[in-house]
Amino acid sequence: MATLSRFQKIALISLGAVGGSLAYYQIGKNEKKFDVQNAWTTNYKPSVKWDRNWDHSEPQSIVKPPKTSSPEEQNTYNEKLEKAKSKAVRHVLLVRHGQYNTSGETDLDKTLTELGKKQADLTGKRLAQLNLNWDHIIKSTMTRAQETGDIILKHLPETVDVKHCQLIEEGAPVPPEPPVGHWRPEPRQFFQDSARIEAAFRRYFFRAPPDQTSDSYTLLVCHANVIRFFVCKALQFPPEAWLRMSLNHGSITWISILPNGNVVLRLLGDTGHMDPQYISSR
Ligand SMILES: *[C@@H]1O[C@H](CO)[C@@H](O)[C@H](O)[C@H]1NC(C)=O
Repeated sequence: MATLSRFQKIALISLGAVGGSLAYYQIGKNEKKFDVQNAWTTNYKPSVKWDRNWDHSEPQSIVKPPKTSSPEEQNTYNEKLEKAKSKAVRHVLLVRHGQYNTSGETDLDKTLTELGKKQADLTGKRLAQLNLNWDHIIKSTMTRAQETGDIILKHLPETVDVKHCQLIEEGAPVPPEPPVGHWRPEPRQFFQDSARIEAAFRRYFFRAPPDQTSDSYTLLVCHANVIRFFVCKALQFPPEAWLRMSLNHGSITWISILPNGNVVLRLLGDTGHMDPQYISSR
């Protein structure tokens, strides 16, 4: 069998773990393709295929193919492909701000409640316990996210790089399907916010660049609509499905982007680190 990358090996091992299921492996002519199918899925046609080049970083889409089939050109091409490959995992963790005073008139008045501060504190403790090697912490510029981020930062190493970002402020990503009666922003709101939140997605979601040698952990402290939309986009689910999910205050959502561009949702709106009396979503 041809040489397998670390992740292909993991894929094989996990297939084995499924236990007893008949599987066959196809290794493409030049190892570009690696398709694994269980026998029972052979005749199953997916309704939507995974877009492998969603972040426009597939080596085959970056490196120009050789003009001739000469072994020299093929070798050069293969070397360039290898150099263009991602080698590390990018973990993106998303925390929703804590509960806040919804009676506030302006954003500055919409400060965290006592419960909201407690939630941020518990989540900060939890993130510290996970003991991850943070590269950046990015806080939405809205007051409730800034406050939540500041409380979380008290628990993390002082050396962590902190950034502020307006792109991840709360908003209306796309009209939800099904529509809901109590939340109907003006079409103009969607028109403005959808482009901004899409830009935020492109800023923070991509596979590790080839020169990144170790796994990285990025923390975004932001908002429920933004996080839910990101989850749909990252998993290539219909984006209009975002409002079918609910996220608790201070909850942790964890998405991992693998070197081959595959995306894994590890946690969605997790508040398992909070005693039930501290859990709220509105
Ligand atoms: C919430 O905001 C309103 C309006 O600004 C204010 O009157 C009220 O005191 C605030 N409540 C708390 C608990 O801060």
